[in-house]
Amino acid sequence: MLTPAENDFLCNTDVGTPMGNLMRRFWIPALLSEELPGPDSDPVRVTLLGEKLIAFRDTDGKVGLVDNYCPHRRASLFFGRNEECGLRCVYHGWKFDVNGDCVDMPSEPAESNFKDKVKITAYPCVEKGDIVWAFMGPADKMAELPHMEWMDVPAENRKIAKLVYECNYIQSIEGEIDTTHAALLHSRLDSEEKAATATTLGGRYQYKDKAARFFVSEKEHGLLIGARREAEEDSYYWRISRWLYPFYSMIPREPHGTTRLGIWYPMDNENTWVILVLWHKDRPPTDDESREIYACRDLIPGTWYPKQNLSNDYMIDREIQRKETYTGIPTDSGRAQDSAMMETMGKLIDRTHEHLGTSDTAIIAMRKTLTKAARDLEEGIEPYAATHADVYKVRSGGAVLPRDVFFSDDKEVLDDITVA
Ligand code: FES
Ligand SMILES: [Fe+2]
Repeated sequence: MLTPAENDFLCNTDVGTPMGNLMRRFWIPALLSEELPGPDSDPVRVTLLGEKLIAFRDTDGKVGLVDNYCPHRRASLFFGRNEECGLRCVYHGWKFDVNGDCVDMPSEPAESNFKDKVKITAYPCVEKGDIVWAFMGPADKMAELPHMEWMDVPAENRKIAKLVYECNYIQSIEGEIDTTHAALLHSRLDSEEKAATATTLGGRYQYKDKAARFFVSEKEHGLLIGARREAEEDSYYWRISRWLYPFYSMIPREPHGTTRLGIWYPMDNENTWVILVLWHKDRPPTDDESREIYACRDLIPGTWYPKQNLSNDYMIDREIQRKETYTGIPTDSGRAQDSAMMETMGKLIDRTHEHLGTSDTAIIAMRKTLTKAARDLEEGIEPYAATHADVYKVRSGGAVLPRDVFFSDDKEVLDDITVA
C-alpha cells in the first residue's frame, strides 16, 4: 500500500517533480531511428515525460528534438518545413536548427539581431541500437548512454517492437517484474497437463508451482530478482529477472537463450511508451522466440496503439476462456493479456486500496529503490547508474539447480546472466 503522496512521488514525472528530475538524469529513448527515415523527412510528434516535442532529421542526417511550441507565438512546429538544416515554423517562418538556435527570422527587419536572442528548447540526441536517445536533463549532468549487449550485436540478431500502454509507467513496470502472473494470466487450461512434455524449463516447471518464492538483491544497475519454484525432488527452478534504473526490465529467460528487455518510459503520467528488444549475442532470434515481438507489432495502422486494446476489451472471447485459455484474450504471446491487466486498473492506480502479498516482493523493492534514488537526488546524491554505462552489461536468466545452491552462487548461471 502506498499513501497518495507516496504514489504521486513515484508516478509523477512532470517537469520539476522529484521523479521527473531523476528520469531526466538518464538518457530517454525518444523514438525509433526508422521514424525519421532520411534527411529532411517528416517531423514527428513525440511526448516524453509530459513534454510535447517535435523530432526531425535535418539535411545532414542529424536528429533534433525541440519544443512543439514555436517561441514566437506558440504555433506547433509539427507543421514545420524541414529544410536546409533546420525546421521552419510555417506561421511566420522562424527557423531553428537541431541545437535550438534560431537561424532565420524573415518576419523581422534584416538588420535586427532579435534572432540571436531567441532559442527554442532542444534536447541533445544520439542514435544507438536503432533508437534515437534524448537527454532531457541539465547539460552539466549529462549521463552516459547505458551500455547494453543488444546495442553491440549485429542488427539481425535483435528485434524491436514499440507500442503504447494506456497507463502510468510504474504500472507498466510492475506488470513486468511481477513474474508470478505468467503461470496464471498467460496459461492455457492444459498448461499443467502439457508440462511433462514441454521443451522449455518455463513450460515444464512454472505451472506446477504457482507460488514462487522471491529473493531480491540490490545491484548497481537496480534489482536482481530470483523467483524459486519446486522442480524435481532434489531441485528448484529459478526464474531470474531484473529491474534496471530507471525504467528497464529483463524478463526471465531460458538458459543461454534470447534475452528480452522492456523499456517502459513515460509519455506522460497516464501513458507509457513501450519498447521491447529481443536479442541473442550469437544468432538471430527464431520466429518462435520472436512471437511476443511479432504480436506487439499488431498495431492500428499509423499509430503505436495495439489493435487489441482498452476500447474493445482486448477482443476477449468467452468461449475461448471457457475451453482453451485462462483469459480468453486471444494472443500469440502474453502481450494483449498484459495490457488488459495493466490498463484496466485505471490510468494511475490508487494504491491505497491494494493488498500486496509475498509474490509482490520485487514490486515493493522496486518502489523503494526508485523512490530512494529520487529522494537521494533531492539531497544532491546523483544516481550512480546514470554515469556508469557498464552496469547495464547484464542479462536475465533461468536454471534448474540442486536445492542447496542459491542461483547467484552458481558459476554457470552467473556467466549466463553477465555480459563479458
Ligand atoms: S509562431 Fe512560429 S514563427 Fe510565428
Ligand atoms: Fe505478462
